[in-house]
Amino acid sequence: MKSTSIWLETAQPERRPALTENAQADVCVIGAGIAGVTTAYLLAREKKSVILIDDGTPGGGMTGMTTAHLSNVIDDSYAEMIRLHGVDGARLACDSHRSAIARIESICTQERIDADFLRVSGYLFLPPGHDEQELDEELDAARQAGVEAEKLPRAPVEGFDSGPCLHFPRQAQFHPLKYLNGVLDAFTRAGGRVYGGVRAVRVTGGTTADIETATGLHITATSVVVATNVPFVDLVAIHTKQAPYYTYVIGARVQAGAITPALYWDTQSPYHYVRLQRTSNAELGGDNGTPFDLLIVGGEDHKTAQAFDTEERFAALETWMREHFPAAREVEFRWSGQCMETQDGLAFIGRNPMDADNVYVATGDSGMGMTHGTIAGMLISDLIQGRPNRWTELYDPSRIRAGAVGDFLKENLNVAAQYTSYLTPGEVSSVDEITPNTGAVMREGAGKVAIFRDEAGALHRRSAVCTHLGCIVGWNKAASTWDCPCHGSRFDAYGRVVNGPASTDLGPA
Ligand SMILES: Cc1cc2nc3c(=O)[nH]c(=O)nc-3n(C[C@H](O)[C@H](O)[C@H](O)COP(=O)(O)OP(=O)(O)OC[C@H]3O[C@@H](n4cnc5c(N)ncnc54)[C@H](O)[C@@H]3O)c2cc1C
Ligand code: FES
Repeated sequence: MKSTSIWLETAQPERRPALTENAQADVCVIGAGIAGVTTAYLLAREKKSVILIDDGTPGGGMTGMTTAHLSNVIDDSYAEMIRLHGVDGARLACDSHRSAIARIESICTQERIDADFLRVSGYLFLPPGHDEQELDEELDAARQAGVEAEKLPRAPVEGFDSGPCLHFPRQAQFHPLKYLNGVLDAFTRAGGRVYGGVRAVRVTGGTTADIETATGLHITATSVVVATNVPFVDLVAIHTKQAPYYTYVIGARVQAGAITPALYWDTQSPYHYVRLQRTSNAELGGDNGTPFDLLIVGGEDHKTAQAFDTEERFAALETWMREHFPAAREVEFRWSGQCMETQDGLAFIGRNPMDADNVYVATGDSGMGMTHGTIAGMLISDLIQGRPNRWTELYDPSRIRAGAVGDFLKENLNVAAQYTSYLTPGEVSSVDEITPNTGAVMREGAGKVAIFRDEAGALHRRSAVCTHLGCIVGWNKAASTWDCPCHGSRFDAYGRVVNGPASTDLGPA
């Protein structure tokens, strides 16, 4: 079984050259996931000079770990959208996601990108014991928001009676990295410059914005877009309004065509999300070109670093898959990643709160980062070009919706509770308990130390205190990272920051 995503296995993004001298552009975009690449591409198409930087390889963040459902069916439900944003807000949300899917489709056509883009139906069904009224209410809310939807007696899955479900036509799916690679090529054809292995450590907005990199080089630009999934340019304004959740995925082989290609979701909390991807042994590096489908099943979400039973999570997913999709054969892939859940179910896209007017952010994917990332490209390019955009207020990063205050308090009480881990014992009491290729937090006197034992048995010790606002990190067995339970920062096994809001590595122990 492969512990990576099908996307990284079949369309590894190209390494990009490093930045070797100071540079200047109209726009500097930081982060080459779907949000940054779309924004950079759309601006380059409008003749802006654009520099795109990433501290790793483009697509190496959550865009390489996604399941790439393209949907205007909001994860948090339309009933919630109407409660939080009103009917007009819910209609705009639907319009924005529908437009994002159409934009992805048109970019594929225009730039001749073969990204396996496919229009499919979506089916939402109930877990056992749930009341059908839940579906009726959602159908009514979705229709009020302008979503095309109908109720059916069951979803089209052989061997599993889903019971009544909602059917949403004209959803879509694609291969996110074939898409990203194609858009990056189109970006460079339009004159854009891409650099890899370039970490931005400081952004200073103002008439001429300055981006400082970890190697001390500077990029100056008229506008800056921070598309790093979780922004590192803001200490608290956005981070108290979104929370990191960790989610798991498995991919099992099924005979080609045995399951109707569609997006499937249930209403369980946390919910399951399912799709198919056509592939072949040849595409996976073998010599047999016979196509088969990979059934991709995700779910088992929990708040980041607040549950460590990784194996149990994957096992539970597999049990659920076998009950619902009996055509599934052996599990061949498993992977995991982090989503940022905002208090009101929609991303934060626009001007960075409490910053200069020319610093923009895109964050808070809410499990819909493929479409939210595309909306970010469309909305931020309009803002930079000085054009009005009908979604500006809906996605404004400084917004606070009255109906979201309860969730805001709940999440921030949860964050406050994390600070009590300064007082608790460590996960292990001796380094002898740490096996090769794993890490654990250990108490040493008054402090806590994050200790990783590498394959050769050597120990690597860092302070366990997150460099954002001081919560204690935890070891993530699924990804071999140190994850912070508070606002989403993640560090590699050696303590190097891989995900903001932290902008510096874990300190020495
Ligand atoms: C398991 C899973 C399933 C999902 N399923 C779906 C789905 O079905 N549909 C959907 O719409 N969404 C889904 N999502 C969400 C979606 O994948 C993400 O929200 C989306 O990929 C985020 O894109 P991004 O561009 O914001 O961030 P990323 O793809 O993470 O890109 C950010 C980039 O910024 C770089 N970076 C970070 N800090 C710096 C820095 N300081 N300097 C330079 N570069 C930096 C990183 O290296 C990274 O490449 C899923 C997510 C997961 C984890
Ligand atoms: S991410 Fe905020 S304290 Fe760690």
